Amino acid sequence: MGRYLVCVTGASGSAYGRRTLEALIDAGHEVHAVFSAWGERVFETETGLAADAWLSGLGLTPERRYASGDMAAPPSSGSWRLDGTVIVPCSMSTVGAVASGATTNLIHRAAAVALKEGRRLVVVPRETPWSLVDLRNMTSLAEAGAAILPACPGFYHAPTSIEELVDFVAGKILDRLGVEHELYARWAGGS
Ligand SMILES: Cc1cc2nc3c(=O)[nH]c(=O)nc-3n(C[C@H](O)[C@H](O)[C@H](O)COP(=O)(O)O)c2cc1C
Repeated sequence: MGRYLVCVTGASGSAYGRRTLEALIDAGHEVHAVFSAWGERVFETETGLAADAWLSGLGLTPERRYASGDMAAPPSSGSWRLDGTVIVPCSMSTVGAVASGATTNLIHRAAAVALKEGRRLVVVPRETPWSLVDLRNMTSLAEAGAAILPACPGFYHAPTSIEELVDFVAGKILDRLGVEHELYARWAGGS
């Protein structure tokens, strides 16, 4: 069983964060979560759910749900063992903060820790279009070792629902974490 940290920021695409959290828990992993202040706001706007109560209902005990301002929480330290960190969805604001090294909340710090410790960091940016500033920041993150995994679902599996599109992205995130799943059907050849 792995231990994973899922960070949700204030970019659109809360469904991707929601599904990633659910899938990691369903797969039996130890999951920890932190929402930024705007992550909570956008999550509520897009899903109608209050993040903290929803996480509690998923079985995340208070020790596994962190306030984004709590820089003393376990993910702040490189000595805390962790198998992977995901920021999904990731705002351009958080991309910029992590790329610059200016860590002002727990999500920025957890990402900085993942990079300095050489651990898996998956960043799922959501914005369109991307400015040159955004592109440069993402290049910096990729050069530092992060996987940039944009919220770009494929259509070759002939999806018929939004849920399938969301699951495709969540599945790609779990692939990058090395976690087994059946969120989407794998390409087995064809035309
Ligand atoms: C409804 C809504 C949707 C938003 N969507 C995006 C988005 O897709 N991408 C983005 O970079 N910022 C988006 N924002 C702006 C961010 O929430 C804002 O930049 C915030 O400061 C991000 O802070 P955080 O990274 O700490 O969560 C959105 C804001 C709102 C209210």
